[in-house]
Amino acid sequence: MIGTPIGKNVIELEETDSTNSYAARLLHDQYPMEGTAILAHYQTSGRGQRASGWESSARKNLLVSYILYPEFIPINNHFAFNQAVALAVWGCIKEHCGEQVSIKWPNDILVNDEKIAGILIENALRGSKIINSILGIGINVNQTQFSDYEPVATSLKILNHHDTDILQLFDQLSGQLAKWYSLLKLGHYRQIREAYQKCLYRKDIPAMYIAGNTPFTGIIKGVTDDGKLEITTPEGISHFFMNKEVKYVF
Ligand code: BTN
Repeated sequence: MIGTPIGKNVIELEETDSTNSYAARLLHDQYPMEGTAILAHYQTSGRGQRASGWESSARKNLLVSYILYPEFIPINNHFAFNQAVALAVWGCIKEHCGEQVSIKWPNDILVNDEKIAGILIENALRGSKIINSILGIGINVNQTQFSDYEPVATSLKILNHHDTDILQLFDQLSGQLAKWYSLLKLGHYRQIREAYQKCLYRKDIPAMYIAGNTPFTGIIKGVTDDGKLEITTPEGISHFFMNKEVKYVF
């Protein structure tokens, strides 16, 4: 089947620890329909990348995890799966925001230089196959006060000065995911990679980074097919970084 019914089977919760953790428990106990979404109005232990938390006041933001079975993706295209998910979230934000929306490698969504959405993908691998994947997505919608983060957090309300319907946004996000996931199923990897490079944050712009403890100036040139970030230094030397090997300076 090409058209996966993403977000059609919805488990809506007033509160849970983390929608990703809820999805993992569900996968442990049963075989949920592909595209099942767990949507919560509040998380007591929302999880972010790098073992960090995810802040969200009750009923203010979109907090959702989708369950997919992307076993069909060959190992050399696994990063395209991350790119497709980032593009879906990017597309959803774009529908609501006239500002500069970009994807900060590997998969943060920024508006100008501020973070509006985060993605936590947790894959279960068997051999080279992703046998199931939990796509945890947090979009800042109607919250206007955040703790101090780097990059600074923003929301649709901060940008647009009005509330956005969270369930309507969820439908739009599900539609975007269905679109990008079907491109993956059709094997349109090149289209996905090209679209991702086009909205890559700081592409071709000189900026500061830190690798190890060493700050340096460089220019992001793009992302390789296996997901490494290419930054060239003023001497014209290309450096390739895996996730977490380089820090952006804001
Ligand atoms: C990041 O650190 O940028 C990733 C944040 C991901 C947050 C979302 S909110 C819904 C889902 N459940 C979680 O516990 N985390 C993800």
